[in-house]
This record gives sequence, C-alpha cells and structure tokens, in this order.
Amino acid sequence: MLRGFVHPTCWTLLCLLLIPGMVSSCPDFCRCYGTLVQCLEPNTIFSISIFGEVENITELVIENQKDLMSLTRDDMRNFRELKNLTISSTGLELISEDAFEMNPRMTHINISSNALTSLSWRTFLHLPLQELILTGNPFHCTCDVRWIQLMRENDWADLGNQSLSCWADSVEIMLEDLYISQCDLPQVSIVRQNLTVLEGANLTIMCNVAGQPTPTVRWVVPETESYTEIEQTNTSEVEIALHLFNISPGFNKRNITCRSENIVGPREEHVQINVLFPATVVSLEEAIPQHHYCFPYTVDGNPKPEMRWQFNGRNLEMNSYIFTKTVEESENATSIHGCLYLNKPTHVNNGNYTILVWNMLGSASETVYSKFMDNPFSFNPEEPIPVSLSPEGGGNSTFVNTVETVEEHTFGVSVAVGLAVFACLFILVMLILLNKCGRHSKFGINRAAVLAQEDDLAMSLHFMNFGSSPLTSAEGKLDGTKPNFIENPQYFCDACVQHIKRRDILPKWELGEGAFGKVYLAECYNLTPDNEKALVAVKALKEATENARQDFQREAELLTVLQHEHIVKFYGVCTDGEPLIMVFEYMKHGDLNRFLRSHGPDAKILDNGNGQTYGQLNLTQMLQIATQIASGMVYLASLHFVHRDLATRNCLVGTNLVVKIGDFGMSRDIYSTDYYRVGGRTMLPIRWMPPESILYRKFTTESDIWSFGVVLWEIFTYGKQPWYQLSNTEAIECITQGRELERPRTCPNEIYSIMQGCWQREPQQRLNIKEIHKKLQALVKAPPVYLDILE
Ligand SMILES: *[C@@H]1O[C@H](CO)[C@@H](O)[C@H](O)[C@H]1NC(C)=O
Ligand SMILES: *[C@@H]1O[C@H](CO)[C@@H](O)[C@H](O)[C@H]1NC(C)=O
Ligand SMILES: *[C@@H]1O[C@H](CO)[C@@H](O)[C@H](O)[C@H]1NC(C)=O
Ligand SMILES: *[C@@H]1O[C@H](CO)[C@@H](O)[C@H](O)[C@H]1NC(C)=O
Ligand SMILES: *[C@@H]1O[C@H](CO)[C@@H](O)[C@H](O)[C@H]1NC(C)=O
Ligand SMILES: *[C@@H]1O[C@H](CO)[C@@H](O)[C@H](O)[C@H]1NC(C)=O
Ligand SMILES: *[C@@H]1O[C@H](CO)[C@@H](O)[C@H](O)[C@H]1NC(C)=O
Ligand SMILES: *[C@@H]1O[C@H](CO)[C@@H](O)[C@H](O)[C@H]1NC(C)=O
Ligand SMILES: *[C@@H]1O[C@H](CO)[C@@H](O)[C@H](O)[C@H]1NC(C)=O
Ligand SMILES: *[C@@H]1O[C@H](CO)[C@@H](O)[C@H](O)[C@H]1NC(C)=O
Ligand SMILES: *[C@@H]1O[C@H](CO)[C@@H](O)[C@H](O)[C@H]1NC(C)=O
Repeated sequence: MLRGFVHPTCWTLLCLLLIPGMVSSCPDFCRCYGTLVQCLEPNTIFSISIFGEVENITELVIENQKDLMSLTRDDMRNFRELKNLTISSTGLELISEDAFEMNPRMTHINISSNALTSLSWRTFLHLPLQELILTGNPFHCTCDVRWIQLMRENDWADLGNQSLSCWADSVEIMLEDLYISQCDLPQVSIVRQNLTVLEGANLTIMCNVAGQPTPTVRWVVPETESYTEIEQTNTSEVEIALHLFNISPGFNKRNITCRSENIVGPREEHVQINVLFPATVVSLEEAIPQHHYCFPYTVDGNPKPEMRWQFNGRNLEMNSYIFTKTVEESENATSIHGCLYLNKPTHVNNGNYTILVWNMLGSASETVYSKFMDNPFSFNPEEPIPVSLSPEGGGNSTFVNTVETVEEHTFGVSVAVGLAVFACLFILVMLILLNKCGRHSKFGINRAAVLAQEDDLAMSLHFMNFGSSPLTSAEGKLDGTKPNFIENPQYFCDACVQHIKRRDILPKWELGEGAFGKVYLAECYNLTPDNEKALVAVKALKEATENARQDFQREAELLTVLQHEHIVKFYGVCTDGEPLIMVFEYMKHGDLNRFLRSHGPDAKILDNGNGQTYGQLNLTQMLQIATQIASGMVYLASLHFVHRDLATRNCLVGTNLVVKIGDFGMSRDIYSTDYYRVGGRTMLPIRWMPPESILYRKFTTESDIWSFGVVLWEIFTYGKQPWYQLSNTEAIECITQGRELERPRTCPNEIYSIMQGCWQREPQQRLNIKEIHKKLQALVKAPPVYLDILE
C-alpha cells in the first residue's frame, strides 16, 4: 500500500506545500502537509499500520472509515512524535491498553463518534493530555466507565466540558447521572511502624489494599546502587510484604511505593525510610580557582554530619576570607556538596587542609594539600631581611633569584597596597606628555633615540599593560593614535624620572604577581627629605631584555607626569642592576573591589591590625569613594586620557578611606573572570564596557563614563561583579541589547539616576564627568534621605 505516489488531486497549489521527504511515504488516499496527515476519503483505511516511516508526523486526522475497528500499540508505533490524534466517525471498537505506549508526546486526542463501548484509563493516564474528546461513543454503563466519571470531576484533559453518556439496555444515561455500585478506586495503606533503622538492619514493611473490583498490588522500590536484598511476598490477596535485608543508605530520601490498581484506576501510598549511618567524607579535592579558590568536598551521613576544618593540623578559623558554603543538597540523597572558599590566598595559605566530619554514629576525615603561590622569601618575612639589592652582587642577588624562580601561574594576592599603572590609556598618555614636555623644556626632551620601530612599540604596549593590552597591537594600529606617537618621539624625558638607589629599597613582603613580574611591600629610605624611611610598593620586572628596558623607561616617564591627589603616586625607578624596579605609593587597604566586598552587609568588623576598622560601609562613605574616583577621572579627562579599564579592581584604598585610581597591573591575573579573552592576549573587561566598545572597540572619554557608572554600581553592591548571574556571552548580549544593571538594593534613586545617565546608549547623551563629580560632591554634603533601603 505504500507507494511513492502523489495523489491525483494533488496537481494543485497545495502540492507545492508538501514537504518533499513526506511525499514518498504518504498513502494514496491521504493528504500530507508537512507534519500533518489527513485521511478523510471515506472507507479507504482499515488499519493505521499502513503508515511506514512517518516518524516526524505530529498531527494525524482520520475520519469516515467504517472499516477501521481497532487501534493497538503496533498500529501507533511509528508515530513517535505525534501530538494530536483525531479518529472520528469510524468503526473503531477497541483501543488496547498499551495503544499509546510509543507516543509519549500526545496532548490532544479526539476520538469522538466512533463505536467504542469501553475504554481503559491505562491507555491514557501516562500521557501529558490537555484534551481528550470522547463524545458520541456508545459506551456501556459498567464499571469500565467509572474512571471517566472520576476524571470529569477533576476536569482532567478537559473532560468536564463534554456531554458524555452511556447505554444500558438501549437507554441512554448521562454520565453525571450514572451510579455504579461496587465500583471504586482501591484503598491502600502502609502499616505504620518505626522506619528509622541503622545501616545494615533488616526491615519488613506491610501494605494493605481493599476495594471493589479487587485490586492488584505491588511494591515499587527505588533503584539504588545498593547491596540491599529485596523480597516481595503476598501474604494474602489484600496484603503484601516488602522485606529489606542489610539496608543501605541509598534508600534515604527515596520513595518506596505501594501501588495498587483496578479497573477504576490506580492509587498508591509511599513511605521513606530513614537509614542512619556514620559521617563520611565522600571526596575532597584540591583547590580550584574560581572567583574565590574552592576546595570542593562531598560529605555524607545521617544524621547530617557536623564539620570542622584544619590547616596543617591546627583548627582553621572561619571568617570572611575563609569560609565554607553548601553548594548543593540533593533532593534524593543525604550527601552534601560544598566548597571551602579562600579569598585570594597567598603562599601563607599553602599547606594541608583537613576536613573532619562527625555525627552520633562515627567520624571521618580527609586531607588535601594545596599550593597557591611560591614563597618569594626563603626566610621568615617577619625577621630582618638578608636581601642584597646591590648590583655588585654579580646580578645574582637573592632578590633576583626569588623573582625568577616563580614561574607558576599565580593568583593572587593579598592585602593592601597600591601603585598606579595606566595600562590601556598609555598611548594617549604619550600624546599629552609630549605636549607637556614640549612646553616645559626643563624635562630635557631628547628621546628620539629611544623610540624604536613598530615592533618595539607593540611590545611596549603589552608590557605597559603587564601582559595583556585590551587592544592587540594590530588593533592599536587601527586606532590612529599610534602613528602620532611614533612621529613625536620627543615626548620622553628621562630627566623627569626620579632615580632611587637600590640600597635604599628593602623588600619586606610579596604582595602579588602579575604577568610582568612581582609586587612587593618594601621600605624605602631617603625618599623625601623630611622622611627617613617610608613604606612603598615596588614592582619588580621579570624580564630585562633591551626592549623591556626601553618600555620600562617610557612607562616611568609617563607615570611621572601623572600627578593628582586621586591617582596613585609614582615615586620613581631603580635601574642600577636587576631587577628593574618601579616605586609607588603604598596603599594600605589594597584594591577597592576587595575592600568593598569585605565591608558589605555580612562583613564582620575586621580589625586590620592598626586599630582602624570599618564595619559595613554607609551611604556617606560610599559617596566619598565615588567622589574621589570621579575627581581622578576629571583630571584624566582634562588631559584627554582614556582609561579603558576603569573598575573598582583598578582603584586602591589607603588610610582614612582615601581612594585613588591606579593598580598593580595585576588585576587581569587576579580578577581574570572580569575579563573576556578574545584571541591570544587580548582581554576585554566587557562587563564594564558600553555597547560601542564591545561592538566596535571604540574607547573614548564617553566610554570611560559608562565604566564609571558601572563602578558606581559596584560600590553600591559592595563589589558584586556586574551581571554576575550571566556568562560573558550572555552579558555581551544583554549590554548590546540595551539592558541596564538593576538598581542595587542600597542605592538611593538620586544615585541610580546618575548611573543611568552614564549608561545612555548614545555616547554624546551620557553625562560628562565634571557634572557627575559636581553632583556627587553635592550628595556627599547632603546625602539623600533614604528610609529602609539600607537594612
Ligand atoms: C525528521 O526530522 C529530522 C530533523 O528534523 C530529519 O533529519 C529527518 O529526515 C526527518 N525524517 C523524516 C522521515 O522526514
Ligand atoms: C493540536 O491541537 C490543538 C488544539 O486543537 C492546537 O492548538 C495545536 O496547535 C495542535 N498541535 C499540533 C502540533 O498540530
Ligand atoms: C473532534 O473531531 C471532529 C471531527 O473532526 C470534529 O468535528 C470535532 O469538532 C472535534 N472536536 C473537538 C472538540 O475538537
Ligand atoms: C470549560 O467550561 C468552563 C466553564 O463551563 C469554561 O470556563 C471553559 O472555558 C471551558 N473550556 C473549554 C476549553 O471550552
Ligand atoms: C525507631 O528506631 C530507632 C533505631 O532503631 C530508635 O533510635 C528510635 O528511637 C525509634 N523511634 C521510635 C519513635 O520508636
Ligand atoms: C537480617 O536477615 C538476615 C537473613 O535473614 C540475617 O542473616 C541477619 O542476621 C539479619 N540482620 C539483622 C541485623 O537482624
Ligand atoms: C501476588 O503475587 C503475584 C505474583 O507473584 C502477582 O501477580 C499478584 O499481583 C500479587 N498480588 C496479589 C494481590 O495477588
Ligand atoms: C516522593 O513522593 C512524593 C509524593 O508523591 C513526591 O512529591 C516526591 O517528589 C517523591 N520523592 C522522590 C525522591 O521521588
Ligand atoms: C602535609 O601532609 C604531607 C603528607 O602527610 C606531609 O608530608 C607534609 O609534611 C604536610 N605538610 C605540612 C605543611 O604539614
Ligand atoms: C537524584 O536526583 C537528581 C536530580 O534531582 C538526579 O539527577 C539523580 O539521578 C537522582 N539520583 C538518583 C540516585 O536517583
Ligand atoms: C647565581 O645563582 C645561581 C643559582 O642560584 C648559582 O648557581 C650561581 O653560582 C650564582 N652566581 C653567582 C655569581 O653568584
């Protein structure tokens, strides 16, 4: 019957709508339109099994077929995708109980006006039915139709809206008027008993059923990876027993079901057994870098285990830098997955981490070793430091060694310090610098020789960014600024850079590491005439190739020009011997992002050792932070600098809540999740970027304004990552589609409207930084009244 045949009437337009693949399997007397098959021509079909490969059909309509008498699983087995089935005005008398076993997607069934005298609930109850039309069938008024009565009461599958009847001795009775005696759902009950048992115990559970017509009953036991032995016995017709031997913990939180059914329908009852077993550590793995480092662990036990951690054999105190969090408690098992989080660990956190768990039945422990960073010093940092920085050491000083031995990817770091490096904006810096130097001849412009060919420049870009310019050198060329730069080599003025003697610098402690090298806290002597020694942050460069030296020199000259109270102060360089060092102001509280996160709502009051404590930041403090950053940005904008990577991670916090723009150049290493890597070295801070920067890599003063809006948002969310709930690609989609970050809970409307002013899609429509600074200054003086926003 199945032939590659096009119906004769198909020489119409409709034919053109046929999906080519379907034509070959469309029976002669049916019409196939894509996924719809219609067989309306009277009395041409006596079995649906005529259809062959029709797997993609979702709708089947068969009407006026008096020879079609039955419908079985075999008939339907090819229609796996079927959703809608209409069989109407046919001779259909029988639909088998398993007819739709192979059609689990059916939602609409119309079997009206056939010759059905009975129908079983088993045919339908497993389907996601929204509509089941049964009208116009000569059902017999027996217990067989009782389920239809019951389901109508629940308006299941829209049965409640149909006018349905049955026939008893040629009398038609409406279903709602029909009473059938001795015909109801079975009763099921599980005999109550103590279901709390120890692992390995034996347990017997009894289930009783009753009902007319007589129901069948069976136990449905969950599949567990368990060594439990299971036996079912029928002790009588109405009672069955489930015997469990040597019960395993896998039964916890799983349903054990006693299922009974008769012609009227199914009914079930379930219990859960509570299997007690000792606490165990299922797994403990080495720390993996996420936003924080995470030691993933899985523990199990019933009752729920208690937990404690040790570090190198001593108790590990939990605080806002080291804490545990349950990641997932499963619905159907007792095991608990979690993380021990470490916020920016350093080498002092290297060591053995031990998890200890216990409950009333037993205890367990597991240890894992983790190393976050090499110790840069081979001595105790609290003791006097036997470091010689003098170049006379044959270029082989301790300091150099420590710098060079650490090759590991590092993550980083620790507390407080600061220094400024304007990575991305440096090309523009050059321009300005030139102008300045050009006007002020005291800088001794003489640098033509320093400037190299394009290759060097590209290199220098990378170097200034400490390994990761947002723009690749190729893109930098497109910028149009670079040629300018090359044409104006006289920008560099060696004379402006202060030189500091190596013997005056005494490194104390590693603060972190980036692609460029390392940052140390150090003491510096004779820095200023009135101060014998001062704490500074020094950046030691890893490589000292000739190119790197030139870049270093140029960067130092640029940094020297940037002098503002809200830009981290650059003191000078140390170039006698290796490594090359830059000396910056030390900013005690480290980067602003970390500072915000540790002063959020759940921050304990941390004593930073100096008696200076901030609890949760209040509105005025947040406004002060924002105002200071705005002030630094006003300065940069006045020099026509484009920062390109303004974010709280690139600002530093000193004493008395002084905030300055500037960073270690390490944020791309520490905050790598804040960047989106495109191609090898280019990392873009897309969550801070406006649509035009994302789409066209256009960076302007206006794009810095957008980022400033995001910085405000960061401040008022205590350092949340913008779009933290989204992946990079999703964030890009949201930003380019024009969605805005939501108003932070603690943010008054006045401030949110500034953010929105920064996030205008059209760059020209954004607020300008001077206005923003003024507004913020006004707000600091008269903070908006806000009611219960801050809890
Ligand atoms: C069913 O659909 C799939 C993909 O939608 C297609 O690859 C396949 O060829 C179709 N089968 C038939 C018989 O049309
Ligand atoms: C099935 O029928 C319902 C109701 O008539 C209709 O809304 C739906 O679009 C149909 N679905 C398909 C796949 O034909
Ligand atoms: C069921 O199918 C028949 C025949 O196609 C049609 O006349 C009737 O309207 C359908 N019923 C519903 C509720 O869709
Ligand atoms: C079923 O009946 C109710 C009330 O009689 C009505 O609100 C509802 O729209 C009906 N549903 C359909 C699908 O006809
Ligand atoms: C149930 O059994 C457990 C262990 O056999 C026992 O600890 C618990 O007290 C019992 N509970 C009740 C309510 O009898
Ligand atoms: C559980 O039953 C098995 C087999 O009947 C028996 O060998 C074992 O001792 C029983 N265990 C307990 C804890 O009663
Ligand atoms: C008893 O056990 C048999 C198989 O062992 C099963 O077919 C039957 O449904 C069970 N229950 C009753 C109530 O007979
Ligand atoms: C156990 O049964 C209840 C009620 O039917 C259901 O809500 C729950 O999801 C089931 N639990 C599991 C683990 O299957
Ligand atoms: C960590 O554990 C290993 C193996 O038990 C041991 O050799 C090492 O000394 C431990 N390290 C520390 C710092 O306790
Ligand atoms: C427990 O439930 C999860 C989903 O909640 C499922 O993926 C897992 O397979 C279930 N485990 C068991 C043993 O049934
Ligand atoms: C330099 O350090 C290396 C490695 O520590 C050592 O092998 C070498 O002898 C040192 N050279 C001098 C001149 O100290």
